[in-house]
Order: sequence, then C-alpha cells, then structure tokens
Amino acid sequence: MERTRIAVSARWNGENKNCRERAAEWREQELPRARGGMERTGIAVSARWNGENKMDMRIRPRRLRGGENLRRMVRETRMDASSLIYPIFIKEGSGIVEEIPAMPGQYRYSVDTMGRKLEELLKAGVSTVMFFGIPAVKDEVGSGAYAKDGIIQKALAQAKRDYPELYAVTDVCMCEYTSHGHCGVLCGHDVDNDRTVELLAKTALSYAQAGADMVAPSDMMDGRVSAIRDILDANGYTQTPIMSYAVKYASGFYAPFRDAAGSAPSFGDRKSYQMDYHNSREGVKEALLDVQEGADIIMVKPAMAYLDVLARVKEAVHVPVAAYSVSGEYAMIKAASRAGYVEEDKMICETAACAYRAGCDIYLTYYAEEIARFIKEGRIG
Ligand code: PBG
Repeated sequence: MERTRIAVSARWNGENKNCRERAAEWREQELPRARGGMERTGIAVSARWNGENKMDMRIRPRRLRGGENLRRMVRETRMDASSLIYPIFIKEGSGIVEEIPAMPGQYRYSVDTMGRKLEELLKAGVSTVMFFGIPAVKDEVGSGAYAKDGIIQKALAQAKRDYPELYAVTDVCMCEYTSHGHCGVLCGHDVDNDRTVELLAKTALSYAQAGADMVAPSDMMDGRVSAIRDILDANGYTQTPIMSYAVKYASGFYAPFRDAAGSAPSFGDRKSYQMDYHNSREGVKEALLDVQEGADIIMVKPAMAYLDVLARVKEAVHVPVAAYSVSGEYAMIKAASRAGYVEEDKMICETAACAYRAGCDIYLTYYAEEIARFIKEGRIG
C-alpha cells in the first residue's frame, strides 16, 4: 500500500515538484494520518504478532460465529412462514393426484382432491396459495380462463368454502388456456397486446368474483395492471390487491412448469413479451411502471439466478417485493439431491435465505412447506 501510494503521489503534479520531494512530503504528512486511521480500525493491530506467538487482534469476526445461539442472534435476514406462497396446480376432472414428471414430489390435483394438500399446507403454517389451472379444453382465445365454471373459478369457490383461513392468490394468464400455448390472443404469429389485456382484465374480475383474495397477472403484456385495477374497481373489488409479475424473464427455468400445466408454446417462444435476461435496468423500468399502474406487490421471476435484479428492484420501489423460485429451480435441487450430489435440505435453506437476503418480502416456492418447517426448527430465519 505504501509503495503504491508513493508511486501514485510521485506522478507529475502541477506544482512542478520532483518525485523524491513529493514522496518525502507524503511520508511526513499523509502516512502518519493513514496509519492512525488504520490503527483505529484495528487493521494494523490485527496484522501484528505478539510475543506468545498469537495474533494480538481486537476485532475477530469469528467471535460472533461461536455458537448457534449467537449466530441466530446476529442473523441479518429474518424469515417468517407468513411470507411464503405455495403454487398449486388444479386440473379439471375428479380423483386426480398426478405426480408431475419433471417435478417429483409435486402433483396436479382436481378440485375434489386438492383439500388434502391445502390442509397439509395450513397445518405447516403456509396459508397462502397461488392457484394455476389446467382446463379440460383449450381454445384460440383461452376462454377457460374467464369462464364462469372455469377450473380456477370452481377451485376458488370450494377452497374458500372449506378453508376460510386460506388466502387465495390466482395467477392471471392465458397460456394454460390457449390452444397455441401463448400468453394471449394471437395476431399472426405474435401476441396482440391490447386485445389480450381486455381478456386478462375479464379473467381477473372473474377470479375476484369467484373468491380470489388477490390476483397476480403473469402474462407480461403492457398496461395490464392498469386495466385490471380499473375493472376490479369498477365492480367493487377496490380492496383486491394486484401482485404483478412485473419483472418476468423469458427463462429456461420454466420448462418443468410448462410440462406440469401443458402450457408450452406450440411455436416460437415468449421473447416478444417476457424480458431478455441480459437486462436489469429494464427490470426497474417494468417495476416502476407497474407500481404507477397500481400494482400493490411487485414480483421478480425467476429467483435464484436473478437476485441482482431482485436487489435492484427492491431499492427502486416502495411496495413489497416477491421472488418466485420457479419450477426449474425446484427440479434442479430435486434432481441433484436424488442423485446424491447435494443435500436437499441444505439447498432449500440456502436458496430461500439468499432470496430473502437479496430483498424479497414474499417468496413463492414449491418448497414452501419444507421452508416453513425449517423456519420453525430455527435452521433458517
Ligand atoms: C404463466 C406462468 C408461468 C409460470 C408462472 N406463470 C409459465 C410461463 O411463463 O411460461 C412459471 C412458473 C414456474 O416455472 O414455476 N405465464
């Protein structure tokens, strides 16, 4: 450090001093000041050895890691099961409990079987669920999404009747309901933004009428938050919050979900509406726009590979921020742990705590139940 400082200071300066003069001046005037500063912070002291061959250190970061009680006391990230949301897939039909091939341990339920899972969640302390629907028939305009007797409408009615303590959020999107698998109605080979927004608004209203406590548009059309807020307000649902999937990337991490919901696009990809993963400033733009349009909660998705974006968005907005640990994140941990390459519990704990550390207030995850348990046990949070 000394050497570098001298070298830097010794460079040509405007006062026409030569290198040696400048260096001497620095040694006399600046070095003592720098040393004082270093000693005050303990850096210089830490580096010295004392006579007993031990380091004479005042500041030892390890001191605060010396036991489980202490480590828990000084944790910077606090977690609570009330901030967890579990995504559940409800399929048209009856008696269905189907394991999702790419997501071992996760199932598709029908309305008559979902109760067992909802009960399990409530018992574990997870009281918020995000509903995804798998309709019997799909069409060009995704009419199953806003049908009065659509799969989500039926699931909501029953869930709210049987479990009034449950908080029901619904994903609002067309891709599970369209025959082509895109998140809206098509115009040629692209999704028609404005026509889609009308249908999304209609869908959101229909969910609110069926009993949804909160709606969560995930389509990434421009202006949909505003349209949804308008239609909810106009129909008396002024107190129904909107959690916007505001910062949603076109991601390979959604592959298992599309398998689960049968919602993969039949041609092309979602890059003309979901975001390019090279961008984070644009994520802030999307988040701010949605807040302006009336979003109550902003979501960043996926989570694990996008924590930088999450931290940035958290700084930029003054509403709660959610992170969605998506199907591919679940599938990776599941597969690697089943192969014996990693320990599942440890991976669940670490990825969850890191998402909260990066700034999320709400965490959507297929591991919600496990995380609630680990929080209760004091392993995390
Ligand atoms: C619907 C939607 C998707 C996910 C949530 N809502 C799929 C997609 O955008 O392709 C992904 C969730 C996951 O992967 O767990 N648009």
